[in-house]
Amino acid sequence: MEMENNTETLLGEELQGSATILKDERPGTKKLYLESYGCQMNFSDSEIVASILNKEGFETTNNVEEANVVLLNTCAIRDNAEQRVRNRLKHLNAEKKKNPNLTIGVLGCMAERLKSQLLEEEKLVDLVAGPDAYRSLPQLIGEIEDGRKAVNVLLSREETYADISPVRLDSNGVSAFISIMRGCDNMCSFCVVPFTRGRERSRDPKSIVSEAKQLLEKGYKEVTLLGQNVDSYRWNITKKGEVINPDEEAVSFARLMELVAQVSPELRIRFSTSHPKDLTEDVARVMAKYENICNCIHLPVQSGNSEVLKKMNRGYTREWYLDRMNMIRRIVPDVGMSTDIITGFCGETEAQHQETLSLMEEVKFDFAYMFKYSERPKTLAERKFEDNIPEETKIKRLNEVIAIQMQHSLESNKKDIGKIFKVLIEGTSKKSEEQLFGRNSQNKVIVFPKEQYKKKEYVLVKVEDCTAATLKGKAVGYA
Ligand code: 5AD
Ligand code: SF4
Repeated sequence: MEMENNTETLLGEELQGSATILKDERPGTKKLYLESYGCQMNFSDSEIVASILNKEGFETTNNVEEANVVLLNTCAIRDNAEQRVRNRLKHLNAEKKKNPNLTIGVLGCMAERLKSQLLEEEKLVDLVAGPDAYRSLPQLIGEIEDGRKAVNVLLSREETYADISPVRLDSNGVSAFISIMRGCDNMCSFCVVPFTRGRERSRDPKSIVSEAKQLLEKGYKEVTLLGQNVDSYRWNITKKGEVINPDEEAVSFARLMELVAQVSPELRIRFSTSHPKDLTEDVARVMAKYENICNCIHLPVQSGNSEVLKKMNRGYTREWYLDRMNMIRRIVPDVGMSTDIITGFCGETEAQHQETLSLMEEVKFDFAYMFKYSERPKTLAERKFEDNIPEETKIKRLNEVIAIQMQHSLESNKKDIGKIFKVLIEGTSKKSEEQLFGRNSQNKVIVFPKEQYKKKEYVLVKVEDCTAATLKGKAVGYA
């Protein structure tokens, strides 16, 4: 995912704004057009889907007109994410009039949430597959060829796609995602994910480490360990912390990070997303211990008011959150911090909203994804609370949160002027062929003149200028 210019991200739309056409070069007889919406997990899943269908002779294409099968990997997290996919499906159905043999399918969270509705009632698709059903895609496509309806939305307690080697799509060849766990058991009251992605399950650490090694061999320099709640990662340990098989190593998230960090000092490690309720000190310590584990953490707070947090079922208070932040800053002083914030949750008073603003002032996040609350069917909040904050108020509060964050991002970037950072070069800047861009350990994007430097190299860059979204500088040598 290209995120060089992240002003959009500051507005909280990056998650839905980056439908990417996925492409790879393997030969095949049938053509697959795959589009991803939503979170990084969906982009990572699309690489698994491409791998499964590649084996069945599908070649990916970036041209819808030549596709036999079009699959949209969808997001259900907010209503506007779903509306966007519906519009896209309507457009694709118009295409289908020209090419009646085209198969249109929907994957991911919206498929799981709506089950056969898009197929039977709305008649927008031929195929529906939920996040745990991708192994059955070849069979589902076969069913359509036989004139049957193809739906598989079964969720699994075991599926981690551990043995499937993802086909890296839309890749810059520098950084890649590694999915380490699936599902979520947290039941935040606003969130649809536990319903669309099922129960939490972790992937075998051996398969994770070997994926990291393979990526390194292919020239990748950075991996992001992905999970809905990475701090709940556990292998060979029960939820209560007891070891299951004494003959095998028990692996916590901190230990997993360490195992991946040991693959090579040349391979950078990032991870997402952490949960304040489960984040432990050993994660921060491992972060501090390994130079190649990036010093940045995405820790969604959602609200700065303890009562709202309770209604959100987040499992922590304002004070607990601030304590976790202080703990991380104590152990990793130069850590980059980012968060997610929701405005206008059920019953949120003006005073409670002010507490979100004051928490932002206290923490001064480097970066944030900000959203207005969108009620989702079947969630605890939908069943228990009224979605009673007027739309104008939700927007007004969101704009206040965005304004503060813009200010904080700018302040944080200004503080970096004059500093030198180790940067991994990801490619040529979107705005100028003469400039390169990469990220520092804190996950900030830095743009600088190309000179003799090349993609995949680690360079030291001195920051000279900035905007709220980007640092600008000059390379001063190799790192
Ligand atoms: N409305 C608005 N934002 C939501 N998020 C999750 N569910 C909702 C919802 N119903 C946000 C949270 C989460 C991020 C991925 O999306 O901030 O951390
Ligand atoms: Fe990702 Fe699903 Fe959440 Fe969308 S709803 S952001 S696809 S996990």
